[in-house]
Amino acid sequence: MSNDLYDFVVVANRLPVDFTVADDGSISWTRSPGGLVTALDPVMQGAEGAWVGWPGAADLDHEPFDVDGVRLVPVRLSDGEIELYYEGFSNDTLWPLYHDVIQTPAYHRTWWDAYRKVNRRFAEKAAEQAAPGAIVWVHDYQLQLVPAILRELRPDLRIGFFNHIPFPALEIFAQLPWRSQVVHGLLGADLIGFQRTSDAANFVRSVRRFTDLTTRGEVITVPEDGGERRHVRAAAFPISIDSRQFDRLARSPEVAARALEIRKEIGNPQVMLLGVDRLDYTKGILHRIKAFGELLADGRLTVPNVTLVQVASPSRENVGAYQQLREDVELLVGRINGEFGHLGNAPIRYLHHSYPTEEMAALYLAADVMLVTALRDGMNLVAKEYVAARSDERGVLVLSEFTGAADELVGSVLVNPHDIDGMKDRIVSAVEMDARDQRKRMRRLRRRVLEDDVEKWSQAFLAVLSAVPAHKVSA
Ligand code: F6P
Repeated sequence: MSNDLYDFVVVANRLPVDFTVADDGSISWTRSPGGLVTALDPVMQGAEGAWVGWPGAADLDHEPFDVDGVRLVPVRLSDGEIELYYEGFSNDTLWPLYHDVIQTPAYHRTWWDAYRKVNRRFAEKAAEQAAPGAIVWVHDYQLQLVPAILRELRPDLRIGFFNHIPFPALEIFAQLPWRSQVVHGLLGADLIGFQRTSDAANFVRSVRRFTDLTTRGEVITVPEDGGERRHVRAAAFPISIDSRQFDRLARSPEVAARALEIRKEIGNPQVMLLGVDRLDYTKGILHRIKAFGELLADGRLTVPNVTLVQVASPSRENVGAYQQLREDVELLVGRINGEFGHLGNAPIRYLHHSYPTEEMAALYLAADVMLVTALRDGMNLVAKEYVAARSDERGVLVLSEFTGAADELVGSVLVNPHDIDGMKDRIVSAVEMDARDQRKRMRRLRRRVLEDDVEKWSQAFLAVLSAVPAHKVSA
């Protein structure tokens, strides 16, 4: 760090803090232990880094401040900008488009204008914080224009971008009225990371279609002023979790005791199935619950022998599609519980809450079968958390083939969530799997998840980005 400038700057839609406003209006902050924070912590501390992001509430204006040795730089968003940039363009245009149009994306020019404006604000904040030649790592679909704006403001920087969600096939991406602006926005980076090789390949195809740039494999050549050329690389860096932390936590006597207590609280069923998701239409929650309801109706699973615990944490509650999903899920859960439940015994325990990591670890440890049935998911970290928590080598992971995790997690029971009959068969085979088969599969899964943790992910990305030769800047 020199003169309050930072050699490493993260730019993400959200700051890694939870804040509280006291009665006297004063604000206090605590760090929220998200995956990205954990991943970047060693680098942030080592390089004295800064993190640019939105504090998560409207009109919150605050000078940059330090939490645990990291400089946090809040970006203010007005109520209107939250509606147009965050709820609108990010979560009602890009989110459904990038998840294979599971919901119809809405295209509004006012939303796009707000997205551009807010992306510029993030880029300007980052430019103010970065030391000469610094590394700036921009995250996710909300900020795809930041790399190009930042390069324009600060050509000396090495800029990385990581897309946490899928990048859609050309034929789908082509719907976006501002597709070439988005591609050019991303090409401001030196390195563009994706979850899967197929995402990176989709992006390169879009570059070929919507620009006249030359591509060779994963490298795109971008001409610069003064006859220089820049090489941008688009490659896969599958993200992971802090596997050791989960493993340790789940081995603790407190978590083990809590897992037993959870089983007791739900009536000690022979089999506990578990779903853990943000309440999002990409997660296939309705498909999963429908399959479970049919298994009860067919008598292939019976109450009270089997219970499904479904954690659905609240998310993006001002967006219409999320409100509709909540209604649909709650209606279906109510129907199934009404039809197959008894006094004091409901086949589905539906929890519309978020829980601390310790409780999540206990839930994972308590569950015989974990159901991850997303219709489309960049990675799905819940699947990896379940595996990391199972040092007892018990439990079965049922995993949708449409998650990034399916590329890596060999040993899971793969399902196509659109094929309800197929999914029902897989769920029954998971419930009936013997201990020997469970152990064999879980060992294989755990080797992978414990080896490839989130620190390895960030190191791999940053090693490639740091190897980019320093940019020559004409005086
Ligand atoms: O998976 C993409 C993502 O933006 C995550 O980074 C985030 O944790 C999650 O979706 C929830 O997003 P939001 O910030 O909209 O609540």
